[in-house]
Amino acid sequence: MKGNQKLVGYIFEFAWILPSVAIPIAVISTVILTAFAVGIRVPDIAGRIEPLAINRTAPFNEPGVRELAPGKYEAIFIAETFMFTPSVIDLPVGSDVTFKVTSRDVIHGFKVIGTPVNMMVVPGQISKITVHFDKPGEYLVVCHEYCGAAHHTMSATVIVK
Ligand code: CUA
Repeated sequence: MKGNQKLVGYIFEFAWILPSVAIPIAVISTVILTAFAVGIRVPDIAGRIEPLAINRTAPFNEPGVRELAPGKYEAIFIAETFMFTPSVIDLPVGSDVTFKVTSRDVIHGFKVIGTPVNMMVVPGQISKITVHFDKPGEYLVVCHEYCGAAHHTMSATVIVK
């Protein structure tokens, strides 16, 4: 082989190798960027609960908001066909809120529009995620797992002011 052909060979070889290195680097960078810069997080499993005993199991025996420390809140929700309890909560702007949600019956979803809160709610499990509310407004909470005929009506509201 002449020197020129060899050089062309190396260039083609490099052109094929480059994407196989660049694509994984791009994927990993995107994951790191979304996790740390954009704040997308995977919800935690915060324990198990007996679905039939929700009404007498703390903290789900008292759904709603409670203040844990100055600026830190816990919001306890029960999901069931086709509603969330409570249906409305109020939070002060600038607060850190840990949502803890469980289901009484089937699999539901818990998505707070405009925030990174996006969880699956599974009977027997407690789903948990913490988020910071720095903008006042009314945030719609929707169920985004198909749970039956009135799935599309299942919602709640988080009011931040
Ligand atoms: Cu609950 Cu869909």
